[in-house]
Amino acid sequence: MIDIAFARMELPKSGALALLLGEDEAHTGLAAALDAALAGGFTRALAAADFKGKRGQSAVLLAPGAGLDRVVAIGIGKSDELTAHHAETAGATAVAALMKHETAAIAGDGLAAPMLAHAALGARLRTYRFDKYRTTLKEEQKPKLADLTILSDDSAAARTAYAPLAALAAGVELTRDLVSEPANILTPEEMADRAKSLKSLGVKVEIFDRRDMEKLGFGALLGVAMGSACEPRMVVMQWLGASEPEPTGKSGKKTKPIPKDPVVFVGKGVTFDTGGISIKPAAGMEDMKWDMAGAGTVIGLMAALAGRKARVDAVGLVGLVENMPSGTAQRPGDIVKSASGQTIEVLNTDAEGRLVLADVLWYAQNRFKPRFMVDLATLTGAIIVALGHENAGLFANNDDLANRLIEAGTYTGETVWRMPLGEAYDKQINCDIADMKNLGNGRAGGAVTAAQFLQRFVNKTPWAHLDIAGMAWASKDGAVAPKGATGYGVRLLDRLVAAHYEQ
Ligand code: BES
Ligand code: MN
Ligand code: ZN
Repeated sequence: MIDIAFARMELPKSGALALLLGEDEAHTGLAAALDAALAGGFTRALAAADFKGKRGQSAVLLAPGAGLDRVVAIGIGKSDELTAHHAETAGATAVAALMKHETAAIAGDGLAAPMLAHAALGARLRTYRFDKYRTTLKEEQKPKLADLTILSDDSAAARTAYAPLAALAAGVELTRDLVSEPANILTPEEMADRAKSLKSLGVKVEIFDRRDMEKLGFGALLGVAMGSACEPRMVVMQWLGASEPEPTGKSGKKTKPIPKDPVVFVGKGVTFDTGGISIKPAAGMEDMKWDMAGAGTVIGLMAALAGRKARVDAVGLVGLVENMPSGTAQRPGDIVKSASGQTIEVLNTDAEGRLVLADVLWYAQNRFKPRFMVDLATLTGAIIVALGHENAGLFANNDDLANRLIEAGTYTGETVWRMPLGEAYDKQINCDIADMKNLGNGRAGGAVTAAQFLQRFVNKTPWAHLDIAGMAWASKDGAVAPKGATGYGVRLLDRLVAAHYEQ
């Protein structure tokens, strides 16, 4: 994590500098000062590069003089069209160009403080690295950037606006760390331990082991866990940022608040998905270390909400299991009984995520009576066939919730695309020998039949399911995320909460 400081707009005397410049705007302020220091060289260089300040445009000047090692101009388009997400992308693009310098600054002449704060967020997210297992990394392979300063006309306001975004970034980074970890390290138990660290932020954390879940009748989740030598866990995290503690009683002690219609998030946490007895092919199976990304996102989200002291009661629940083939593993054709009482014929042990979520969703809904419930899961390969890596699949039983998620997606750039639910799909999971089977008919509409399965464990609660199989991991660098674990969903759901559910 890089340190980000905020300072007064002043031409740096050394290091590297990025300027965020609007489209066809006269260069005043720092850009003018730089141009003067370079005897008109800045304006000439931009003209030579045909730089007009359009969004996505950039120009680089190496060793331009005035003591600077590099100057980068980043186009941000028409300033009245600039969104928070554009500002994040601009900050990220800037920092990617500055990474080779020890000290760097980003200046946004005339940019409002909140927009600069979002540029800072983008910059921080773009510099994420997961190097903990690189013991022989050479010096020249490491990014040099250690000090990043955001230059602003109103640095105090920008710093204030950045504080909650820094908590959000820490949540995204936690998710990325969890998703990046290999499955030999991040077992269900280890993941539960890492969730426990949220206690230091004021989150109440409960951990359920196999016996606890047996008592709750979690036959669907525990069936998946049967083949693994690793013990399963469920973690319940509560951030009570809205409930006031009860008035002081006679004892003088404040009684513990209970959540009032909390917003609830549920995550699939399969720490490794071999497919079980219905085993997956070897090629690409290593990707299934990130089959816990839904749970990782919920943990990072809870860290973000608590970190910025969001005025909301939020509960995160994650079901953590490993899906392995072994002599004790569940078999195709096994029938399990879920916590809801409904029975399931497990026709394919590789359709395990829905089995895990079935029990956790049921429990979440009954214990917390949520205002709404959103689950996240790397649930199906079929959603990648449908939407690629540009949108998560959104399934919902409630239009308001769906529209709010779509809006939050546009705001953050973590976009979602609504997919259908309906009786015709639901029929496909009917079963002759149990209440349902864990597969639809063949591969067609596989993401939808998976969502239909989940819906059978949701009553009247407004509910949305996000299939993030195409979004949790990136094979190439993105706007605000280097390749690898993206942390997708933390910013989306933080925005959903901030825009509609905080007092
Ligand atoms: N975890 C996988 C889905 C997945 C695939 C996520 C590729 C990310 C990348 C899930 O458990 C799974 O195996 N789904 C099966 C379901 C099928 C057996 C009905 C699938 O999508 O093939
Ligand atoms: Mn699977
Ligand atoms: Zn899976």
